[in-house]
Amino acid sequence: PVPTPLWRPQYHFTPEKNWTNDPNGLLFLNGEYQLYYQHNPFENKWGHMSWGHATSKDLISWKHLPVAIPEIVHPDTTTWIYSGSAVLDKNNTSGLGTKEKPPVVAIFTGDQPKQHKESQFIAYSNDNGISFKQYSSTPVIDLNKSDFRDPNVFWYEPTRQWIMTVSMVNEHMVRIYGSSNLKDWTKLSDFGPAGYTRNGWECPSLLPLVVDNDPKKVKWVMFVSSGGDHGPLIQYFVGDFDGTTFKDDNAGKLVLPVDYGDCFYAAIAWRDAPQNKKILLGWLQDGRRETYPWKGQMSIPHDLSLKTTDEGLRLVQEPSSVVTKAMGKYAAQKVLLTKNLPINDTRINLNKERPYSGNSYWINAEFEVTKDTKKVGFNIVENPDITKNVNVGYDAENGQLFIDCTISEMGNKSRQNLTQTAPMKPENGVVKIQVLVDNSSLEVFGNGGEKVISTMIYPDGNATNLSVFAEGKAAIKWMNIWDFNQKK
Ligand code: FRU
Repeated sequence: PVPTPLWRPQYHFTPEKNWTNDPNGLLFLNGEYQLYYQHNPFENKWGHMSWGHATSKDLISWKHLPVAIPEIVHPDTTTWIYSGSAVLDKNNTSGLGTKEKPPVVAIFTGDQPKQHKESQFIAYSNDNGISFKQYSSTPVIDLNKSDFRDPNVFWYEPTRQWIMTVSMVNEHMVRIYGSSNLKDWTKLSDFGPAGYTRNGWECPSLLPLVVDNDPKKVKWVMFVSSGGDHGPLIQYFVGDFDGTTFKDDNAGKLVLPVDYGDCFYAAIAWRDAPQNKKILLGWLQDGRRETYPWKGQMSIPHDLSLKTTDEGLRLVQEPSSVVTKAMGKYAAQKVLLTKNLPINDTRINLNKERPYSGNSYWINAEFEVTKDTKKVGFNIVENPDITKNVNVGYDAENGQLFIDCTISEMGNKSRQNLTQTAPMKPENGVVKIQVLVDNSSLEVFGNGGEKVISTMIYPDGNATNLSVFAEGKAAIKWMNIWDFNQKK
């Protein structure tokens, strides 16, 4: 395989080498964000599923640690360590540590490929999540099923028990269990089928989120991953959880996508994050190109909340403030424009303004949009003769945030639509756009996280041009760029 250092992201997580898919066991522990991840320690493709491990204080730079939970190989059977979660068992309810030194407990799916069987297991760590011992060779939940996976566990204080959401994949249901000790689980209820059910349900999780920045107003959100019509889809349901049952406000009739792109998948949130923050991390799934010596990367972490809109309560996802607060350590900021600059049917090359070159950067911009605006945004990863680029911005005629890869490297390699869009409206005549380009990933946040589109791009080495453009009349109100590349 040919090494592809050009496509290695700078401010997103990738394993040092070999394969990753889903984030697992996201837990804030001893001042550090723990990231476990679906990992093949031996090859740059899916297989030998194990939990890789890395930690970070700022969600930008990661310390790579040894495999935390390896596959279990016996002469007659192999158990692969599929997706799941991890908790700090503060009160030692499991008895797998001590009151003074509480255990970290991982709850995951053991997949037995030979037996076509999936069941839920636990393993525990007495060294702060570095190494894990299997609790038992017997699962803690076994329904004798082939597709039953991805347990996500949290502590629910009102009933003082652990709650697990786990996927009944082909039934399009999330089963909810309760436990007092992480070992003995009782079925509490089922949620679903609901919303989008054309493909199997995976990686469910349930989170309490603050509404309209009022800490007293909390609603529960159920997240479910599945294949969609245009690549992976994570849908969410907003409702209430009473310790037993999740009740969807929209009675399962609405399909609400978390992300409008074709890569964001299997996302879960950190448990126990400071200030009660709910920070979501997804895998950017994409098989259109090989990268080497790693394959797979995580998204930028998203800070989650809910907002009342004309249509009802909707998810808001901003690039995490944990990241934006720390970014000055790794990136140079340049204010490109501070005052209203009309851009009418034209484009302005911004590379001249940038102190850096390369495709690892982050733009924050606000555009003024009127009835004379057709489109406004950026041409990114453009090659010198302008035959290839990716177009990102706001389409005012159609009321959409968009990523258009029609003339990009992806042009002939797309598994679905070349244009990815999310419905969006200007707020008081202004559209906010954040464009996160990181060598091979592209994430666009509209109106402060009201809409998100995430995808993967694979630009050529010389495709580093960046311009801002408008079709029709528009104005840039304000724009800055954080550059993660090396100095020119
Ligand atoms: C989602 C998923 C999970 C499973 C894991 C296996 O991408 O299919 O359902 O646990 O990947 O790697």
